[in-house]
Amino acid sequence: MAKSKIQFECTTCGHISPKWLGSCPICGEWNTFVEVATSTKKEVEHKAKVVGIESAGSPQTLDDVDTSKKSRFLSKISEFDRVLGGGFLPGSYILIGGEPGVGKSTLTLQIAKSNPELNILYCAGEESASQIKQRAQRLWVQSNKLLIYNETQVDLIIEEAQKVNPDLLIVDSIQTVYRTKLSSMPGSIQQVKECAALFQQVAKKKNITTLVIGHVTKDGDIAGPRVLEHMVDTVLQFEGDKNYTYRLLRSLKNRFGPAQEVGVFQMVEHGLKEVINPSELFLSNKTDGVSGNAIVCTMEGSRPLLIEVQALATPTNFGTPQRTANGFDRNRLLLLLAVLEKRAGYSFSNQDVYLNIAGGFRLNDPAGDLGVCCALVSSLLDKAIERKTVCIGEVGLAGEVRSVPHIEQRKNEAHKLGFTDSITPFFTSGTGVKYVQDAIKKALR
Ligand code: TYD
Ligand code: MG
Repeated sequence: MAKSKIQFECTTCGHISPKWLGSCPICGEWNTFVEVATSTKKEVEHKAKVVGIESAGSPQTLDDVDTSKKSRFLSKISEFDRVLGGGFLPGSYILIGGEPGVGKSTLTLQIAKSNPELNILYCAGEESASQIKQRAQRLWVQSNKLLIYNETQVDLIIEEAQKVNPDLLIVDSIQTVYRTKLSSMPGSIQQVKECAALFQQVAKKKNITTLVIGHVTKDGDIAGPRVLEHMVDTVLQFEGDKNYTYRLLRSLKNRFGPAQEVGVFQMVEHGLKEVINPSELFLSNKTDGVSGNAIVCTMEGSRPLLIEVQALATPTNFGTPQRTANGFDRNRLLLLLAVLEKRAGYSFSNQDVYLNIAGGFRLNDPAGDLGVCCALVSSLLDKAIERKTVCIGEVGLAGEVRSVPHIEQRKNEAHKLGFTDSITPFFTSGTGVKYVQDAIKKALR
């Protein structure tokens, strides 16, 4: 049998070289060569057999395509089902990415708890079966339809999956599975890509819903989820700050549901708890009557979320004034400070400015601008913002308060939590404010 040959491929331009090179002679990039195995004809045929690739047959019209089997089934974790777009679509291929320790294994194991009817094949490469049992006991999982399989060889996993034909195949994690044919280590780009492609075939050809877990690091790369995004139907990102208990499950891509939808969980003693009203969670430590604090309403997916913005302006003692932003884009803070100075006449040039989004949350929604501006001026003048006020609006370079989507939904959320006053852009409500200085006057009256 012909031996498969090892080659090296540039991940940037695809140039193939028989030996590893530090810099690509074609595109000039450094450190981009990874090992690839050339498959012999026999291997390709074997691969096809493993994953059951059949001839695609002849082309068909949309009317002829059979979709009768495609009714969704639920994980019965409502936050999770909502992010998926109404539960699992049979045969879909889902990737959950996140930093180590955020709770990916816990979340997937909890599916077995909330829906004991599901036949789940849980392939664990990270923990032993007994460790998983301990975790399952901690989570009070009671399901005799959950199969734990301690295997990391992808071909064996696929063979087992075809035998068992589960409703849900969970692979924890893609970095631990490998093909013996490739000489590179499990977790290398080559292994991850190859294994992910095999699981894709399992999902599509065998109609087995497949959920793959992938670790990402802080900068979001390493042989991980990023290289797989195009292969899967759905990319979910599980986020959370180690210092806080809340976790956000965000859909970054979803072929069968809404993208940018967010589910909110809290990590507690016995696993992940769904947070039905996240605003309450984020406002639980709210301080009233203190200058520099403002409440904003951000949209996370289809949900409005109330968040507290805290600003502190103190006179600069010496040197250049400091600007520090935590949970907010620092450049955006500089821009808003410039707008406040030029358009509204509030000077921060001799002030150190600190901005913090409470609860470890990251505020990316431009609708938070107005609240940030009000908080900054509130601290500068040492005058607290009215307690029952929420600020909604984007701030432009001319100092104008710009309209943002979902104003009514945001106002309703605020109202529900007792914020009777809202400062909103004039353009949508007819009653709102036109310029940031008007908003500040209203907030600090
Ligand atoms: P885990 O699901 O193992 O994370 P991942 O698979 O993403 O690496 O979760 C690990 C963390 O969650 C760990 O720090 C302990 C914590 N945890 C709880 O607080 N409560 C629980 O019930 C469980 C199972 C874990
Ligand atoms: Mg894990």
